[in-house]
Amino acid sequence: SIFIKTLYRNEQDYLNKEVQISGWIRTLRASNAFGFIEVNDGTFFKNIQVVFEQNLENFKEISKLPISSSITVVGKLVATPEAKQPFEIQAKQIILEGMSDSDFPLQKKRHTFEYLRTISHLRPRSNAFSAVFRVRSVAAYAIHKFFQERNFVYVNTPLITGSDTEGAGEMFRVTTLDMTNPPKTENGNIDYSQDFFGKESNLTVSGQLNGEAFALAFRNIYTFGPTFRAENSNTTRHAAEFWMVEPELAFADLSDYMDCAEDMLKYVIQYVMDECPEEMEFFNSFIDKGLLERLNHVVNSEFKRISYTEAVELLQKCDKPFEYKVEWGADLQTEHERYLTEEIFKKPVFVTDYPKDIKAFYMRMNEDNKTVAAADCLVPGIGEIIGGSQREERLANLEARIAELGLKKEDYWWYLELRKYGETKHAGYGLGFERLIMYITGMSNIRDVIPFPRTTGLCDF
Ligand code: 4AD
Ligand code: MG
Repeated sequence: SIFIKTLYRNEQDYLNKEVQISGWIRTLRASNAFGFIEVNDGTFFKNIQVVFEQNLENFKEISKLPISSSITVVGKLVATPEAKQPFEIQAKQIILEGMSDSDFPLQKKRHTFEYLRTISHLRPRSNAFSAVFRVRSVAAYAIHKFFQERNFVYVNTPLITGSDTEGAGEMFRVTTLDMTNPPKTENGNIDYSQDFFGKESNLTVSGQLNGEAFALAFRNIYTFGPTFRAENSNTTRHAAEFWMVEPELAFADLSDYMDCAEDMLKYVIQYVMDECPEEMEFFNSFIDKGLLERLNHVVNSEFKRISYTEAVELLQKCDKPFEYKVEWGADLQTEHERYLTEEIFKKPVFVTDYPKDIKAFYMRMNEDNKTVAAADCLVPGIGEIIGGSQREERLANLEARIAELGLKKEDYWWYLELRKYGETKHAGYGLGFERLIMYITGMSNIRDVIPFPRTTGLCDF
């Protein structure tokens, strides 16, 4: 059988010829003499209309098929210039592959996203989610394409790890110990030396530290894989399991990272708009009016770059009653991030040079000894989409920060060793892949851009 996408994209090759397609029934209406079925085979956002008549030997059976039954159709593809759709199939034969029960939950009426979340196994068959998850796939491909075209090496960093990259203590423990009766050390703590790896281990929050080791061998690398955070994910932008893209560039500083990230975002957005025009049109009409105009503006404009100190001053000057007070030294809250990009600059913004105390240990200390060479990329509608920095390559400074933050030097022995053997300035960042998909599609909840979401209290399927 042929894909519906192929018919739409190469219509002229197939018109007035016999074609065979297989798919699921989206709608069906039939009279005593003839009927119409809209079939979707998953390869394309749009359905294809199938017309069938009484001369089918199983006409009666087909007329009564419930929505979501799977069928194979053989028939002639004919142009329909007067109709909404460009062509239809006049069925010669319709084979029932799998009859659906009549209580298929996605009947024609519109469902709320909340409801659809409770049926993650079926929602990919709805219009909205077929669009979201195809865009997700195409965007993932565009990420690889962007970096591969620029000679970045793709590195698979471990998911189980012995170190806490962000030092924020938000990790999921991995253990094979019997936690109902775990072995204890003399001072009463759980004795992880008896655990599978002979030490505590966790799911990774970021592949960055391992990525740095590879950047110092391959120059430019990227990771793209799942990461895990046991933080309160009861927001529309946090998941406990999410995908991150983490490029790391050797012989590069903070502004090289920002150039790379800006190019990457524009490239991926443009690629998705080119490859998925039907899906993007759908989002623009039904999810977020003005989406396409905004994204077109993003690919054609320069991102704003301002320092954290300047951002704080701007926010303090505006008369918006924020829930959280803006004070130098405190982290920007989502409401502040959104105000900067939505109200003040109306485009993506890099905020740079944050106070050291609100950022991770590995970020490079600035001359002022108060701020670090960090940059977050904020976008309208979401807030932070990328976090990154230039890395502290000076061994003494790095050791001092590790000590200052009360981290254990032994845990980072190999990371520190990278500073001994041919260190160079280097920089990198982490893009939250789900946040990028939210940005591109206009979807407003992270649970609706990841196929089977894991958030606080939610781990079904
Ligand atoms: O800012 P973060 O914590 O940075 C890092 O992990 C660095 N090690 C990255 C690097 O420099 N290589 O996370 C990076 C991005 C955030 O900007 C956000 O988009 C996303 O990851 N992110 C989350 N996305 C969904 N759910 C969560 N719980 C997220 N936490 C972070
Ligand atoms: Mg961050």
